[in-house]
Amino acid sequence: MCGIVGYLGDKNSKEILLSGLKELEYRGYDSAGIAVLQNGKVDSFKAIGKLVNLEEKTKDYITEDFSIGIGHTRWATHGKPTELNAHPHIGDESYVVHNGIIENYAELKKQLIADGVTFLSQTDTEVIVHQFEKNLKISDSAFEAFRKTISELKGAYATLLVTKGESKTIFFAKNGSPMLVGVNDDNEKYFASSDTPLIGQCSDVNYFEDGDYGYVTPTELAIFTKDDVKKEAIFTKLSTNKLSAQKDGFRFFMEKEIYEQSSVIADTLLGRLYDDEILFDELDDSLFDGINEIKLCACGTSYHSALTATYLFERYAKIKTSVEVASEFRYRQPIMSKDTLFVVISQSGETADTLETLKMAKAAGLKTLVICNVDNSSMVRLADACILTRAGVEKGVASTKAFATQVTVFWMMALYLAKRNNSLSSQEIVKQINLLREVPSIVKVEDEMHERIKRLSKRYLHGHGFFFIGRDVFYPLALEGALKLKEISYLHAEGYPSGEMKHGPIALADPELFTIALLPQHLLYEKAKSNVEELSARDSTICAISSLAFDKADDFIPINECTDYMLEFFEMMIVVQIFSLEISARLGNDVDMPRNLAKSVTVE
Ligand code: F6R
Repeated sequence: MCGIVGYLGDKNSKEILLSGLKELEYRGYDSAGIAVLQNGKVDSFKAIGKLVNLEEKTKDYITEDFSIGIGHTRWATHGKPTELNAHPHIGDESYVVHNGIIENYAELKKQLIADGVTFLSQTDTEVIVHQFEKNLKISDSAFEAFRKTISELKGAYATLLVTKGESKTIFFAKNGSPMLVGVNDDNEKYFASSDTPLIGQCSDVNYFEDGDYGYVTPTELAIFTKDDVKKEAIFTKLSTNKLSAQKDGFRFFMEKEIYEQSSVIADTLLGRLYDDEILFDELDDSLFDGINEIKLCACGTSYHSALTATYLFERYAKIKTSVEVASEFRYRQPIMSKDTLFVVISQSGETADTLETLKMAKAAGLKTLVICNVDNSSMVRLADACILTRAGVEKGVASTKAFATQVTVFWMMALYLAKRNNSLSSQEIVKQINLLREVPSIVKVEDEMHERIKRLSKRYLHGHGFFFIGRDVFYPLALEGALKLKEISYLHAEGYPSGEMKHGPIALADPELFTIALLPQHLLYEKAKSNVEELSARDSTICAISSLAFDKADDFIPINECTDYMLEFFEMMIVVQIFSLEISARLGNDVDMPRNLAKSVTVE
């Protein structure tokens, strides 16, 4: 995901900006750039790919004495990863970097083009700098122009702007995307989108609040609220530990990644949802010509998201779909026919078994698609087509946000195919698209819910096993809940279809068998409920997750009422993730790096 840095002071600003960007590398990016303003002259450099490319481009560039500078790492959303789309974006005499989304950029851009402005990039960001320069012509000061510009933007942003006429000032604004400023006794000012670039450079930092905007000069830090009221900075001491700073104050990367799901799903949806259809810029529609069947193949968590897709694709797109565990598919001499689209799913894009099935499908002449989180990974390079999930770098070995974004992509794909196959009415597609728009807010973690699960977790640290049970798409979610728990708690857990319990596993039922029951209100509620009652009657300890109270449960984790089962899916996903996390934390395990596991499994 994108990263921002900024610097004002006497030190070597090029080096400070580059090393700040290096600290943000872990967030993932596909291009980077810096702009430095010194003695009324701006030098700007951009490069696609890794920071070494930018370092190479700037190796002969030297900054000495006072200067101001801004820098950015970009994770492409509006427009491909090209140099032109990389930040800083340039006006006639001003430069801007930005994280987030300017929702009304199309509107602003249309007017600016009508005013005669030429755009160089496909990004939403570029409107900021042109809008600023437009306002500059009619304002008494650069700050007035900046203030006006910010008031005209809708959406989420953290942005820094410099302009030639104000060679000792950096303008800033924050709304929805994180940003902080650090100060020190040398009158230096440091900006960044997270703590790590500032560690070691300054000890006192102010975290901007939504709506804050203002400017810095060598002697001033002026902050205004969204209501244009000047306010004092609130300085806090910066941690000196980089690893803990990267966790943004969370105890574990996994926890941070669970909380991040709202913003990464928003990224997954970005530019793909329209009023009455889903579009994937990266897909050529002909990929689906002559396709009568879809075969999905993956491992672990990615397999679970793919299993969810089998329900959605058949239900909405009416296309025959099946899924297989990659390590099984490899050696069973499967029949592969050319009217099958072969889809691999992988967070890393490097999992050996999955990669091998992709090679097999290609060798058999099948059309192939990869749903992946890592651009340029082996699978992305090999497949005919690719949809990136845009979850950002996932550090916790136990996958969370990668799963959430994969399911989001599959839901979008189901609607994309439904439109293509004419299998859902346009009214239903519009309804589903509106539901998708709700997902980012649905997955926001509520403090009260987290607290409740944390308290409850102390009752689930022993026993002879867990059964996560669910029906339909809640069955893959049950599998995923069980996998999360066993990975990080080392307790035995299984995911099972609710209706299958009576065909064997119910023999295990006793108070030391914990059943985690997924009971969605909007999908087979009565059926799933009677399956749970069967277990309750045999004295299994039941923890029910539902929006409807359930009197046969020993414990109950309520979710918010939603209008559709897929929204309940995402609500419950958060619950099972936090449930595992809290049990593991209580057991004192290494949540982020559980024993025996690796993040990327490149051996078979
Ligand atoms: C579970 C987990 C693993 C991976 C599996 C596939 O939390 O992370 O089960 O899902 O190893 O990895 P990818 O998706 O990278 O192919």
